[in-house]
Amino acid sequence: MRKPFIAGNWKLHETVAEATALAEALRASLADVESIELGVAPTATALYAVSEALKGSNIQVSAQNMYWAASGAFTGEISPPMVKELATHVIIGHSERRAYFGETDETVNRKIKAAFAHNLTPIVCIGENLEQNKAGETVAFVSQQIHGAFADIPAEEARKLTLAYEPIWAIGTGLTATPQDANRIIREAIRETLVDLYDEETAEAIRVQYGGSVKPQNIADFIVMPEIDGALVGGASLKVDSFTAIVKNAVEALAQ
Ligand code: PGA
Repeated sequence: MRKPFIAGNWKLHETVAEATALAEALRASLADVESIELGVAPTATALYAVSEALKGSNIQVSAQNMYWAASGAFTGEISPPMVKELATHVIIGHSERRAYFGETDETVNRKIKAAFAHNLTPIVCIGENLEQNKAGETVAFVSQQIHGAFADIPAEEARKLTLAYEPIWAIGTGLTATPQDANRIIREAIRETLVDLYDEETAEAIRVQYGGSVKPQNIADFIVMPEIDGALVGGASLKVDSFTAIVKNAVEALAQ
């Protein structure tokens, strides 16, 4: 059984003071949640404060990105050992990083390897753009991203990783894939590719979140789908009320 995992991606928002206040409020509002794993991904400057604010809580801390080298002359980057001091997870290959910061399937693969080498759990983002979606290329494209991400990753590591299927056209737009379409893409493009790369058991062990305009109003429809194991939430994770409502609505939907 895959335990659902809902994570908030705070992107380039929140000063240290704001991030700390948000973390403390979520710690209180989500303290009784047990059936769903929880995480938040503050920006790098707030990682220390948020990790302190959430120590001993049921909310895990994730970085939003990192470089693959452990140290060296790489101005502006943060490294796996630096992230490991403050977080347990790291988001890798978010579509915004692929679109604006030159991330490729190859850099994503290098970062996944670096994460495992330092005992960090990667949350790896994949998903098609609107043109690919309209042209019916989604399954082929997402499958290719999976091949790239998992190159030379052994099955025992692959199983620990979380994937986030985020159709790019649904991120921050208010549009979402239908839960049925997201479920189908995850089965046909993600799990079937993972069966080809590994085996049935590994493919079934890997958690796949849906991401793209997840809100309190639509989380229940996604979380009940058999292939969807949680959500990666952007905009709606920045307010205590909306992230709390997303998690609580998911808990309720799963309990039915
Ligand atoms: P959104 O972002 O919820 O604001 O659409 C999701 C994401 O980019 O992870």
